[in-house]
Amino acid sequence: MAVTIKSAREIELMRHSGRLLEEVHDALAEIVAPGITTWDIDKLGEELIRSKGGIPNFLNYNGYPASICVSVNDQVVHGIPSKKRVLEEGDIVSLDAGLIYQGYHSDAARTYPVGKISPEHQKLIDVTKQSFYEGIKMARAGNHLHDISNAIGRYAESFGYGVVRDLVGHGIGTALHEDPSIPNYVCKSKGIRLVPGMTLAVEPMINLGTWEVYWEDDEWTVVTADGQYSAHYENTILITDGEPELLTCSHQ
Ligand code: MF3
Ligand code: CO
Repeated sequence: MAVTIKSAREIELMRHSGRLLEEVHDALAEIVAPGITTWDIDKLGEELIRSKGGIPNFLNYNGYPASICVSVNDQVVHGIPSKKRVLEEGDIVSLDAGLIYQGYHSDAARTYPVGKISPEHQKLIDVTKQSFYEGIKMARAGNHLHDISNAIGRYAESFGYGVVRDLVGHGIGTALHEDPSIPNYVCKSKGIRLVPGMTLAVEPMINLGTWEVYWEDDEWTVVTADGQYSAHYENTILITDGEPELLTCSHQ
């Protein structure tokens, strides 16, 4: 599939989709606390998405059974919400959410501390978020896709962290996953040239230890091979003539 360039009309719809998703994330951030189950987070997330006129795009995607991916501690991504998984003080939790608004998808992830966490884990969360920002400094028309990848990978690796290689970011628009794939690690090739109107989901997944991951028996939950913690940060962005526009994050 070719990389799509969105028209002005499509960009407006992508903006709207992204704004609604940001509101969902802001509300979910408020309920993260010791004692809540990952199932509670999913239920509230689905309700919020629908109440805003969106459709949860993760629900039933290739059989995924929930609207929000809730990944705790050594779970990297695609954790399946469960009534049995109660968040505890000291956990870190990644919430990955997406929605469809008038046919246009948005996708964003945040990692939060649950109560008081160790400085080591807070640093992992902060560096993962910053690696996204390092990446998107390169997200400018005329640059190449892997300029983003290289900036993310180099930054995260400078802290000795493991950069997940088995999962990558992606183009996004009328489908959740469009071309191109967006690695978070340093690449030998340049990748495609960036053009205004491209909409991309840039999503570093960074591990405290090894970059290696495996899939649990539920066929969804991705966990670190060494059991160390992992963080995820993602926004849907628009390539413009100047700075990239963050469609799922209106601040910073
Ligand atoms: N945000 C994720 C992604 O970019 C989650 C999609 S997986 C799903 O791929 F199955 F939950 F939808
Ligand atoms: Co994504």
